[in-house]
Formats: sequence, C-alpha cells, structure tokens
Amino acid sequence: MKKISIIGAGMTGSTAAHWIAERELADIVLLDVVEGMPQGKSLDLTQAMPIIGKDAEVVGTNDYAATKGSDIIIITAGLARKPGMSRDDLLKTNAEIVGKAATETLKYSPDAIFIVLTNPLDTMAYLAMKKTGLPRERVIGQAGILDSARMRAFVAMETGVSVENINCYVLGGHGDEMVPLTRHSNVAGIPLRDYLPADKLEAIVNRTRKGGGEIVNLLKTGSAYYAPSMACVQMADAILKDKKLIVPCATYMNGEYGLNDMYFGVPVMLGAGGMERIIEYKFDAEEKAMFEKSAASVKETHEALKSLVTL
Ligand code: APR
Repeated sequence: MKKISIIGAGMTGSTAAHWIAERELADIVLLDVVEGMPQGKSLDLTQAMPIIGKDAEVVGTNDYAATKGSDIIIITAGLARKPGMSRDDLLKTNAEIVGKAATETLKYSPDAIFIVLTNPLDTMAYLAMKKTGLPRERVIGQAGILDSARMRAFVAMETGVSVENINCYVLGGHGDEMVPLTRHSNVAGIPLRDYLPADKLEAIVNRTRKGGGEIVNLLKTGSAYYAPSMACVQMADAILKDKKLIVPCATYMNGEYGLNDMYFGVPVMLGAGGMERIIEYKFDAEEKAMFEKSAASVKETHEALKSLVTL
C-alpha cells in the first residue's frame, strides 16, 4: 500500500484522511501538534474500516518520525485568522508552521511529493518549495480544483444537469481575484455562455469568487473542509495512479503565461512525477486582464512573505 502523511489533523486534514481511507488509496499518517487528537481521530477512523471492508491503516501521531517513507505529504497545518490578527501576522505564523511541516517531513520522506492546502495558498506553496529546495514538480498547491468544483456545483444547481456533464475551469490565485474561464467552461460540450443567460452566468461567477467566504459566514467558526480535502485527494489519486490528469493547481511559474518566480493556478498534468506539465491556454483580452490582476495580487502576498521571513 502507498503511504500518505497529512500534516494538520484539523477539519480538512481529518476529512482528507476519511476520503483516502474510504477509497483504500493509501495507508495514512495523521500528524498534529495537539496531543491525543490525531491519535483519537485515527483510532475512530480505523474502527470504521471493518464496517466498510477496507484495509487502509490509519495512524495518529505528534512525531514526524512516523511519516517516514511517505509517497505523498499533504500539508493542511495552520491557523485560521482570528479577530484582531492582521494579515501579516497570519502570514508569518502560517509560514512558520508550513515551513516546519515541509522541512521536517522531507527529512523522513526524501522522495515524497508535497500537496499544500494551507492559506494563503499560493504563497504557502511558494514557501514550501523554497524551504525544501525541491523541484517545482514535487510541490503543488491545491486551489483550482476546489474553485472549479464550486463553479461546477453552482452550474449544476442552476441547470439541473448532472455534475458529470459540467466542466468549469477556474484559474489564477486562490482569492477574490480568481479567474473563472466562462469561455472554456461547458455543459456537455455546450459553452456556458450559450447555455445560460448572461445575468445567471455572472451571478455564478460572482458566487464562485466568494465561495469560501460564503461558507465561512454560514459556519461562523472555521472554513470549508469537505470540498477542499476532496480536491487534495483527487490530486493524490492522480499522482499515485500516474493518471496524467489535467486539473488546475497552484504551480511554480517559470516564464509560463509570462509569469516568473511565483505560484499561480494554471492547468497542469498530474502523474507519477507530480506536476509533470503546464498547459497553456490562449486567452482573449478580457481573460488576460483578469489573469494579470490576479497575478498582481498573489505577487503582493509573496512580497509580504519575503519581507517577513527568510526563504
Ligand atoms: N504542526 C502540525 N499541526 C499544526 C501546527 C503545527 N505546527 N500548527 C497548527 N496545527 C494544526 C492545528 O492544531 C489544527 O488541528 O493544524 C490544524 C488546522 O486545522 P483546522 O484549524 O481545523 O483548519 P482547517 O479547516 O483544517 O484548515 C487548515 O487549510 O483550507 C485551508 O484556510 C485553511 O489554512 C487553513 C488550512
């Protein structure tokens, strides 16, 4: 069995473990700083396995040594922004947490591929790559699958068509400036722009951009975790099965789309080598403008990170 270690056994981490175990995709190590919590969740999940007849092993721990020999490391550890905490305070704290998670796990799993989920996503993925010194193929950020899935869900709700028939592509940074590509999105091959009236489509695009915030407002404490964790699991599945799956992910830009030295959400091919290829779309002027605005916003957070921590 393959091995996936999840750093941060909170809502997204433990839900990712649930999806992975239920699919028997890999054995799982769930690590957290909180003592007892990952052990308790793992024991609970282990006791669900006989009921569903799956043999994934789930181990909870506070010790990085238990992550030894992982094929994939998923990093969800971090703090949510608390009242009174500035964006920079959060950035610095999460940078310390993600930096440690990445370097500690690398010691025990020198060949692992890293999937980063902690926010601010693009910048945390950038940090993990810089701190580990790994090639970009092996450090990938999760955002685009989630943002695209949100848009797909909203289109399904509006049209009553199966989610399987709905393809949407949301690129760019994981924030309000994300780039939903309505021209490339479709319902069973019919472009969204032809399938839905303009006002309905605009409402869906706006709701997608604020998709994370909508859930935060409803939950009041905490943020979304079912869809974010499932998105990580789809990435892990594609890598472990060498599927060559093309999905939007945050990846290190080295001249592609005219962007350099930053993480950004673009379509990539996921396979055994991790991020194996970047796919370049042709944009029209409107899409290009949205893309550049989003890139500028991500770059700003990268610069803030660089002023707060040594990479
Ligand atoms: N090492 C390991 N785990 C840590 C550390 C650390 N240094 N610091 C914090 N954690 C753990 C917390 O104890 C907590 O259990 O990270 C976990 C985070 O879980 P939640 O607070 O439930 O947050 P979650 O909803 O899972 O989101 C985690 O993913 O989607 C993003 O914006 C989200 O950045 C956030 C992250």
